[in-house]
Amino acid sequence: MARDNDAPVAVFDSGVGGLSVLGEISRLLPNESLLYVGDCGHIPYGEKTPEFIRQRCVAIAEFFRDKGAKALVLACNTATVAGVADLRERYPDWPIVGMEPAVKPAAAATQSGVVGVLATTGTLQSAKFAALLDRFAADVQVITQPCPGLVELIETGDLVSPEIRQLLHSYVQPLLAAGCDTIILGCTHYPFLKSLLREMIPASITLIDTGAAVARQLQRLLSQRDLLASGHPQPAQFWTSGDPNNFRNILPLLWKKSDSVRSFGS
Ligand code: DGL
Repeated sequence: MARDNDAPVAVFDSGVGGLSVLGEISRLLPNESLLYVGDCGHIPYGEKTPEFIRQRCVAIAEFFRDKGAKALVLACNTATVAGVADLRERYPDWPIVGMEPAVKPAAAATQSGVVGVLATTGTLQSAKFAALLDRFAADVQVITQPCPGLVELIETGDLVSPEIRQLLHSYVQPLLAAGCDTIILGCTHYPFLKSLLREMIPASITLIDTGAAVARQLQRLLSQRDLLASGHPQPAQFWTSGDPNNFRNILPLLWKKSDSVRSFGS
């Protein structure tokens, strides 16, 4: 497939969470044209089998290949642990950026020696996450906390209701009780809850997410291949396997207003 500098960069997530990563990419690389798929019809990935997620990753990757995307970003920790190795094997010529919970920077940042990880069940149960802990967290205590239900509420555009406040509080409390001074946001939906989280944790606690690092890695890969865009980006385009109207309504809250939301596949 011929790809040129002004071909778009493709980004996907199980839903709207990857918009937190899209924001970082568009800040760092404003010349790039961006395509985004939110696989909202199959959310939450966090409670699905790795095989199901791998199939979704391939379906979405094929869609982006047809659109001539020059690079692919998995703006989803859960999709990365399940599917990135398979995608890299299938498309060895394609720059692919995945993401994983920021264990290494958190282990370097903690003073108390106790780090908390908020992530999906799928991410926390994966062999890839276990390997990450073995590699970077040998000298710190890591408390993991799956957060079922949070993603579903964020998908409705709820970032502040009493219901989400109570749910988030119930997930954060055990981390605080265990003495965590550093909390990893290991799911791309959670950065949208930072303000709410800040209201319930001491100011001294460090929150770490991976969106900006993903944008830098994308920049590195494009630059190595001489694929950075020269300018004149097209407006971002969006597809969802869920309800396009719902996605269109949430976009101004998490990104900016866009009418370019279409249906994606099945
Ligand atoms: N946003 C995704 C992540 O980073 C997962 C959300 C889901 O469970 O679908 O892990």
